[in-house]
Amino acid sequence: MSICAGDARDLIGLLATHPRKMDVKAYLVEDNAELVENGRKVIVEAGFEKQLQFVIADATISSTYLGLAPVDVALMAGVFGNLRSEEVTRLIGSLGSLCTVGGYVVWTRHRRLHNGLNQIALIRQLFSESDFEEVLIEDTSDDRFTVGSHRYKGSGQFLRGGIKLFEFTGYDQI
Ligand SMILES: C[S@@+](CC[C@H](N)C(=O)[O-])C[C@H]1O[C@@H](n2cnc3c(N)ncnc32)[C@H](O)[C@@H]1O
Repeated sequence: MSICAGDARDLIGLLATHPRKMDVKAYLVEDNAELVENGRKVIVEAGFEKQLQFVIADATISSTYLGLAPVDVALMAGVFGNLRSEEVTRLIGSLGSLCTVGGYVVWTRHRRLHNGLNQIALIRQLFSESDFEEVLIEDTSDDRFTVGSHRYKGSGQFLRGGIKLFEFTGYDQI
């Protein structure tokens, strides 16, 4: 499941050449209808229309995930950089309710913009405090982004509807 999926490029680019691409079923949660329309075209062109499904909904509310979660992989590309620190804390604290036990969260964060290096350190600390084991931390070859992957080692959190999981303030407000 991609959280704040945009036009699906975060998933499609990888899937196109992945040897297990036919095994993937994914929900893409996004609230911008124009991006969803573009993304749907890309999905059809790439031949993934039976596997990838957009969910046009508010990704910041727990109710959106009832019936979708828990998932094996939660992808958050370009999300943390739009959140204030306290929202990053709130979101990571609730990710155990979106992942299966043993499931993964994969995230990206720009390393320099908007206090990137400090936030990356915070993200890593928060995952380790929230029953997630760090699997991989890698910087992209151009040194612009860090990619992280963490595995949920907790016993499973109950997902309750009606809870605000985070506020997406935008990078200009953090
Ligand atoms: C920086 S983009 C990342 C898009 C995609 N993950 C990628 O890597 O290309 C952030 C996305 O979050 C979406 N978004 C912001 N607030 C949202 C909300 N409350 N619910 C769902 N999507 C939201 C925006 O429309 C935008 O597409």
